[in-house]
Amino acid sequence: VEASLVVDNAFVVDKVNPRLFGSFVEHLGRCVYEGIYEPGHPKADEEGFRQDVIDLVRELGVTTIRYPGGNFVSGYRWEDGVGPKEQRPRRLDLAWHSTETNQFGLHEMVAWLNKVGGNELMEAVNLGTRGLEEALDLLEYANIPSGTALSEQRRANGSDKPFDIRMWCLGNEMDGPWQTGHKNAEDYGTLAASVAAGMRMIDPDVELVVCGSSAHGMPTFGSWEETVLEKTYNDVDFISCHAYYQPENGDMASFLASGVDMDGFIRDVAATIDATKARLKSDHKVYISFDEWNVWYQNAEASQTAKGIGNWPVAPHLLEDVYSVADAVVFGDLLITLLKNADRVHAASLAQLVNVIAPIMTEAGGDAWRQTTFFPFALTSKYAKNGTVLAPKLDSAQHHTERFGDVDTVNAVAVRGEDGSMTVFAVNRSLEQTAQFTVSLPDDGAYSTVEAQTLHDDDINAKNTVDDQNRVGMQTNTSAAISDGKVSITLSPVSWTAIHIA
Ligand code: AHR
Repeated sequence: VEASLVVDNAFVVDKVNPRLFGSFVEHLGRCVYEGIYEPGHPKADEEGFRQDVIDLVRELGVTTIRYPGGNFVSGYRWEDGVGPKEQRPRRLDLAWHSTETNQFGLHEMVAWLNKVGGNELMEAVNLGTRGLEEALDLLEYANIPSGTALSEQRRANGSDKPFDIRMWCLGNEMDGPWQTGHKNAEDYGTLAASVAAGMRMIDPDVELVVCGSSAHGMPTFGSWEETVLEKTYNDVDFISCHAYYQPENGDMASFLASGVDMDGFIRDVAATIDATKARLKSDHKVYISFDEWNVWYQNAEASQTAKGIGNWPVAPHLLEDVYSVADAVVFGDLLITLLKNADRVHAASLAQLVNVIAPIMTEAGGDAWRQTTFFPFALTSKYAKNGTVLAPKLDSAQHHTERFGDVDTVNAVAVRGEDGSMTVFAVNRSLEQTAQFTVSLPDDGAYSTVEAQTLHDDDINAKNTVDDQNRVGMQTNTSAAISDGKVSITLSPVSWTAIHIA
C-alpha cells in the first residue's frame, strides 16, 4: 500500500511544549521502591537513588514528572513523607492494597529530580480524603520562601530554598468510582474551584490542572468536562485526559489503530473547552494535560492487588506489564497523535516511569533495562522536544477495523527541529501490508541526507526481559532514500519509524 506526506514550513500546528514528554512516578508497586529508590543496591548513591535508573531516565528524555499519584494520592497525607525518616509512619495505601512506608516523600522526589537533571515536578494534591486546607498547607510548605510555620518546617527538614512547584493537579481521576473519595461532577467542580481560588491566593502564578475524564469511554465523559469546566474555567490552565489501550478480544487490528481513539478524545475535549470559553465569554485559554497515557493490560494478573485484612504488602510487583513490539508500535502512534495535537495538548505524562506499566524495568539488587516502549519515547523526545509541529498533509491507504471503521494505514507527523532539520515519525498500523511511504520536503533544497530508524520484528510479540534485555531495539532502515526533495522509505507491517532529514 502507499502513503504520502507533504511537509510545508508555512503550515505550523504549534511549537512543541517540552512538557509533552513528561512521565509519572506514583507510589504504586515498585515504581518508587526498588525502582528509582533502593538504598543498599550496588548502584545506589548515598541518598538511595539508583544511578543505573537515573542514567536510563536521562536517556529516555523525560521532562516533567507527575507525582505522587495516581489513585494513591487520593488517600495520601503529604506530611507523612517529610521529616526524619525514622519517624515517618507506615500507612495503609487503599488504592493499591499495600503498605506505604513513607521512606520516600516530597524532599526525596525533588532531590531525585535535581540529580536526573533539574526536571520539573508536577505535584498532585489529595482531593479524595482531603480538601482545601491540606492543599493550601502543601503549597505553603513547598513554595513560601520562609517565615511561616510550614515554610520553616520545610527549611528545618533540609530545604532552605522553596521548591517553587509550578504545575499542580487538583486531585486524580475524581470521576472514577474506584477513586477513594470519588465525587460527581457537580461536587468535584465546586471543590476544585475553591481549591484553585485558594491556591492562587497563595501563589497566583501556579498552573492548575483540573481532572477531566479518566477514559474516553467513561459513562460521564463529556458531561463531566462540561460541568467541571463551567465551574473552574477561569481559574485553571489545563484539563486532564487519561487513556490506556489494550487489545480487546484479541482484535489486534483495532488495537494497532488506538491512536484514532486518542485523537478523537483530544478533539472532543478541545471542543468542550471551546464551548465553555464561548459560553463564559472568557479570554482565558485552557489546554489539555494528557497526564496518563500508555498501553496497559488492565485485566492481566500483574494488575491484581493483594486481598485480605491482614495482607498489605510493601512495594509488591504490580502492573509490571512486559511490552511487545506491537505494544511499542501502538505506543509510538500515541506519541505521533500527541504531537499532531500540539496546539491543544501542552503537557502529557507517560504512565508510568519505572516497573509499573513502564519503559524501564529493574530487578531488586540487580539490573535495569529498557522495554520495547523505551525506544519510540526516547527518539521522539530527542528529535521533537524543542521542535515545531508542521500540519500533517497526509494521504494514506486505509484499512478496516472493527472498533474504528476505516483507518489510515500509515499515520505520520513532521517536526522541524531548532536547527532546521526535519524529523518525520511514521507508523504502519497494518498487520500484513508493507507501506511505501513518500515525504515531500519544503522546496528549498536544504535537505540532502536521511537516516531512518525502525522498530519492527517478524515476531510482533518479541519482548525485552530480564534474561534477554536487548532482544528488541531500533534498527537502521536501509530503504530510506532522498532525491529531488523527496524521501522514500519502506515501512514494514506493525512498525514505527523515525526519519531524520537534514
Ligand atoms: O497509572 C495507573 C493508574 O491508572 C493510576 O493510579 C490511576 O490514576 C489510573 O487509573
